[in-house]
Amino acid sequence: MKVKSLTPKKVILGMRQVLFTFSQTAKLVWKANPRLLVAVFLANTLIGALIFPVFYLEKLTIDVLIKNIGNPFWQEAIKFLAWLFFIRVTVGIFQSGLMRISGYLRYSIARVFSGYIDILLAEKMSSLDMTTIEDPDFKDRFKKVERESGRRAWELAMPLSNVPNYFFGLLSTFSLIFFFKPIVALLIFLLAIPEFFIDAKYTRIEYQFESGNFLKYRLWGWMSWYLTTAKSFLETKILKLSPYFLKKMNEIRDEIYIKALKIRRQREGAHFLTYLPQNILTFFFSLYSGFLAIRQVITVGSAQMYIRAVYSFQNNLTGLVGSFLELYENYLFVTDLIWFLNLKPTITSGKKKPPLKIKKGIEFKDIWFRYKEDQPWVLRGLNLKMAANQSLAIVGENGVGKTTLIKLLCRFYNPQKGEILIDGINLREFNREKLWDNFAVLFQDFGNYPFTARESVGYGKIEEVNNLDLIIKSAKETSIHDFINKLPLKYENPLSPELEKGIDPSRGQWQRIGLARVLIRNAQISILDEPTSSVDPKSEEEIFNKITKFVKGKILILISHRFSTVRRANKICVMKKGKIIEEGNHQELMEKKGIYAELFELQAKGYR
Ligand SMILES: Nc1ncnc2c1ncn2[C@@H]1O[C@H](COP(=O)(O)OP(=O)(O)OP(=O)(O)O)[C@@H](O)[C@H]1O
Ligand SMILES: [Mg+2]
Repeated sequence: MKVKSLTPKKVILGMRQVLFTFSQTAKLVWKANPRLLVAVFLANTLIGALIFPVFYLEKLTIDVLIKNIGNPFWQEAIKFLAWLFFIRVTVGIFQSGLMRISGYLRYSIARVFSGYIDILLAEKMSSLDMTTIEDPDFKDRFKKVERESGRRAWELAMPLSNVPNYFFGLLSTFSLIFFFKPIVALLIFLLAIPEFFIDAKYTRIEYQFESGNFLKYRLWGWMSWYLTTAKSFLETKILKLSPYFLKKMNEIRDEIYIKALKIRRQREGAHFLTYLPQNILTFFFSLYSGFLAIRQVITVGSAQMYIRAVYSFQNNLTGLVGSFLELYENYLFVTDLIWFLNLKPTITSGKKKPPLKIKKGIEFKDIWFRYKEDQPWVLRGLNLKMAANQSLAIVGENGVGKTTLIKLLCRFYNPQKGEILIDGINLREFNREKLWDNFAVLFQDFGNYPFTARESVGYGKIEEVNNLDLIIKSAKETSIHDFINKLPLKYENPLSPELEKGIDPSRGQWQRIGLARVLIRNAQISILDEPTSSVDPKSEEEIFNKITKFVKGKILILISHRFSTVRRANKICVMKKGKIIEEGNHQELMEKKGIYAELFELQAKGYR
């Protein structure tokens, strides 16, 4: 790995990055909780600023002591000393109180900030569109932000709150030394610069090292995930993958950690060396102060104050540089975070309210669609009409674009050409959220929510999530009620074995729960994308009879590879090469003796 030497230009750029990180983090913390930010800045500013009075008090004390050695009228001096000590102790109590408060505030900021970022990420993510979310570059960058956000939030909050403390500490001590010997103040400052350079250099080296290992960390993460996740447990056991993964993980660990430790040793060593010139300066400065004290140019107290100021200056400088570097180390994360937070949805919502009752129906007019510019067309001039009270079934081979059609109807994407109309109005004109209120969709890869059975069904109509009667009614329609009712906690039973008393529903049971979620919505348009592929044929028949009754008079779109279910639909469409190539009811299509008839016969033969 090669790290180019730091030029002044890079340092200035580095400072800009530090300031960017500092200001953006401060902005976010401000949004998360402005009062906390003000409080921590105030507390830490005070801590830093208190250095000056403390040093001065101690100087006065030493001067009084020395002046009064052997003084026969010591009572006056003791009185004055008592006052000095009293003030010193009071300041000490105040300081230690402030330290505690500041510690508490920093902890609160880090906690609040990390929770805030998590929620901000989730909120932003849910406002974006599929086109954005599916973009591989977006995915990579977002995954990184998401994975690191917890740790980074702490790493940002801590140095952010420490900056005022070190800054004011530095200012206090610098002014002290500056008033005494400006040249020394400047020298100290100059001698501290190598420290900044060294730290910046190693921060860069470590950052490059970490990014270079990114893929290895991901491999590590996947292996550890497979080793610890219940879903893959059976397979890793039978295939004896565990020892293999563990060996690989050990290799990665050894390789990364050995190198990382080596870099860290070099960093600490270089850091140590940068202190030497500062120590030499301190030596001469102390000697000079002592000399002036002996020659009675300054008091002993002053000499001691200046010497202490130099040490304190160095500490504060190291602290400030350290805080800035910690911020700098998070620069790329903050850049990514800000990029993400500034993303805007790509699909704009219209203003119109969708019709309360669809009268004419839905129409797809010459729809052309592909997911990305460089990918083949999925839909190629597709035309389709469905009446307001029709049930429509779509059949076709894998990958022909059935699910894509549904995604377009729900306006997760815009078609590149053509228009989709509801009662003659283009989908684009409707408010998207209001449009979604009209859909009840069971997607092919629908969500299996691990929460309670009641919630899992109730999510179909979130405002009814506590309406058990309604939930039971839907669950009965899809014949899943008996199963839920026999669970130890009935409708309050979690649906994941990873939760207490939780159970693991089978694929077919999940589908019934998903169907119940669709029914409870009681929407104008119900869409089922292979809803019963895992339901046994006997129950499928029964469930479909109930569903058909339930959605009577409304639009039902059904995608299925099972012709036994498809045949009930009022209208059946056969898709091929991104178009509808046959349509009609079962009878008509059978008589036509086209593809539908052929496929139907094929499946029927399999059952004979
Ligand atoms: N998000 C996506 N990005 C890119 N291509 C996609 C995406 N989703 C689907 N495709 C592609 O679009 C085509 C149609 O996919 P679609 O899911 O609509 O097929 P389908 O007819 O529903 O198939 P199946 O019967 O397997 O469910 C496929 O070639 C698929 O690879
Ligand atoms: Mg599909």
